[in-house]
Amino acid sequence: MAVKFYQSENQVPLEMHKVRVVQKLNLLPVEERLRAIQEAGNNTFLLQNRDIYMDMITDSGVNAMSDMQVAAMSVADDSYAGSETWNRAKAAVKTVFGVDNVLPAHQGRAAENILAEAFVKPGKVALMNFHFTTTKAHITRLGGEVVELVDKKGLIPQSDDPFKGDFNLDNLRQAIDEYTPERVAFVRVEAGTNLIGGQPVSLENMLAVTDICHQKGVVSVLDASLLQDNVYFMKTREAQCKYMDTKEIYHLLASRFDIIYFSARKLGFSRGGFILSSDPKWTNMMMEFVPLFEGFLTYGGMEVRSIEAAAQGLIESLDMEYISQGPEFIAYLVKELDDYGVPVIKPAGGLGAHLNCSEFVPNMPHNQYPAAAVGAALYIASGVRGMERGTVSEQREPDGTERYAELELQRLAMPRRVFTLSQVKYCADRVKWVWDNRQIIGGLQWTSEPKVLRFFFGRMKEIGHWQEDLVAKFREDFGDSL
Ligand code: F0G
Repeated sequence: MAVKFYQSENQVPLEMHKVRVVQKLNLLPVEERLRAIQEAGNNTFLLQNRDIYMDMITDSGVNAMSDMQVAAMSVADDSYAGSETWNRAKAAVKTVFGVDNVLPAHQGRAAENILAEAFVKPGKVALMNFHFTTTKAHITRLGGEVVELVDKKGLIPQSDDPFKGDFNLDNLRQAIDEYTPERVAFVRVEAGTNLIGGQPVSLENMLAVTDICHQKGVVSVLDASLLQDNVYFMKTREAQCKYMDTKEIYHLLASRFDIIYFSARKLGFSRGGFILSSDPKWTNMMMEFVPLFEGFLTYGGMEVRSIEAAAQGLIESLDMEYISQGPEFIAYLVKELDDYGVPVIKPAGGLGAHLNCSEFVPNMPHNQYPAAAVGAALYIASGVRGMERGTVSEQREPDGTERYAELELQRLAMPRRVFTLSQVKYCADRVKWVWDNRQIIGGLQWTSEPKVLRFFFGRMKEIGHWQEDLVAKFREDFGDSL
């Protein structure tokens, strides 16, 4: 933490920015929150934003713009081909990553589609520390297979390991040998590993992965969507990075990985996607797919103002004061909850705080969807919207049996530069209340379960009457408070 307080008991993360544009929020009375979540089929994706107080469903595309980003948007050059905006985006990528070869895509998953189209065929395998939903979907759609090689420490919910996203390097070497290098489409490192709780990968581990790839002749890919949080953790948790400039870290990574792609909805505080490479041969392999799926090479499906905002946002991703804000607010929330005994993924990572719902409601079976039930309870108690990252987010096996998630998480994402500390304190307060009243929380059952992407569109209802009981207890404890 850069700023120390005189009275250490008041030590909190300090915002190094001020708010100059505001958006009014609604906090509905608890009875209306009950109605809203039931109308949404207990699926937070189906809630309306007007019914939400703190939207913590994602950190993607909802980060606050800086004054410089808004200014940059006003000079966007809207032309189909040869836009000056694209030249400025390339210059920003050059500054941040030090590379010249850049392709645009309309968002991160579109970059994944292009990567998969270029490298994946039936029988190929993609080795990675951990999958992300859209990454895996593109690979399997093309007949490829995903193999996860995160070190086993990554799946321990509570520990003090600073880099739980690290690859198990022995297993990586062995997997490349066993599958043979020819069958490996690429090795993908996901910075700030999303689905295990925004957990970072160390610089040492990333470089070791690229060394192994070079030795064995396989392509190395970095998913840099959550790299800005990851760089913050390298700087604060890894001795060799402490005195490195953030730019040195980005440049070093770009010089070692064959391909880097990212969602500019996360890295860049904007919207869009980018694919970069230090060697034009990789760019050339993917280039033909950009006009086919995205748009011409100088916009790739992105709106020019978003490209300008992303270019400026990338430059801001070098600034430790900006990139500290998310992880420090998350660490604050995690510590508040952990000190109170609420089960949370530890250590605090990037992206958001993650409630460990298998411990929150330990007697609830996977097929009553503990992570979704805790999410619904939290929305009723607070108007805070999180995201289920548990069994609902999995897909049933082809024979219809449930595939139980390894971790039943309720994710409370922290959009960057958006919330104030008092809002985060409110969130912590209400989570603590839900924790103290966890014996009221019951399970959920499907009323409508789509075959694919059920977590987006599916609807559920409470088993029994627990949601009304929770509202009654809220009134008892909070009186006429919202
Ligand atoms: N890679 C990672 C690590 C991500 O977290 C995401 C998106 C993507 C790729 C895809 O990018 O959304 O621009 O298409 N994560 C969002 C989330 C959806 O809420 O965690 P996208």
